[in-house]
Amino acid sequence: MSLTVLDHPLIKHKMTILRRKETSSMEFRQIVTEISTLMGYEVTRDLELKDIEIETPLEKMVGKEISGKKIGIVPILRAGIGMVDGLLTIVPSARVGHIGMYRDPETLKPVTYYCKLPKDVSSRTMILLDPMLATGGTLNAAIDVLKEEGATSIKTVNLLAAPEGIKAVEERHPDVDIYVAEVDRALNDHGYILPGLGDAGDRLFGTK
Ligand code: URA
Repeated sequence: MSLTVLDHPLIKHKMTILRRKETSSMEFRQIVTEISTLMGYEVTRDLELKDIEIETPLEKMVGKEISGKKIGIVPILRAGIGMVDGLLTIVPSARVGHIGMYRDPETLKPVTYYCKLPKDVSSRTMILLDPMLATGGTLNAAIDVLKEEGATSIKTVNLLAAPEGIKAVEERHPDVDIYVAEVDRALNDHGYILPGLGDAGDRLFGTK
């Protein structure tokens, strides 16, 4: 497994806009898309290439094209949806699955209430999207689902992570590569990331 913390001035600048409580939902959505696009650039850095002979208007040459595993993007409902367009901007041919989860109020365990994935999960690199990696409970459960469906190559993309969440995913799924824009200080008693940005779903969709 690997943890990649994106270290780019544009991402840091945009993250600060997301965190500000004054930022409107409209701007929040736009910036989440922009950061997701920039993160997608890093997440796709290790895609395999193969040689291909082409002709420019002047002569023949050997260029490169993407080979190897195709990509599947899977937002975790609902906040993950905000990151889909950013990834699709740079991988427009990716298939998009969806996983919906809620926390059972009694057991506090994540329950899958919706799952629709591309058929060939085992032959794709599956990229899970969730803006907030807080306790890691939901992300771990979503990775469980992907693995049960046959996925062998899984990456996660999160805007903000708490150290507790990273540790939880590293321990349960050491084979998964985690990409985060920034790592914050801690979680509060309600599982919110501090200093964080609040409830990502509410901020994206203006539901609060
Ligand atoms: N989910 C959120 O939307 N925000 C947090 O801070 C933690 C989990």
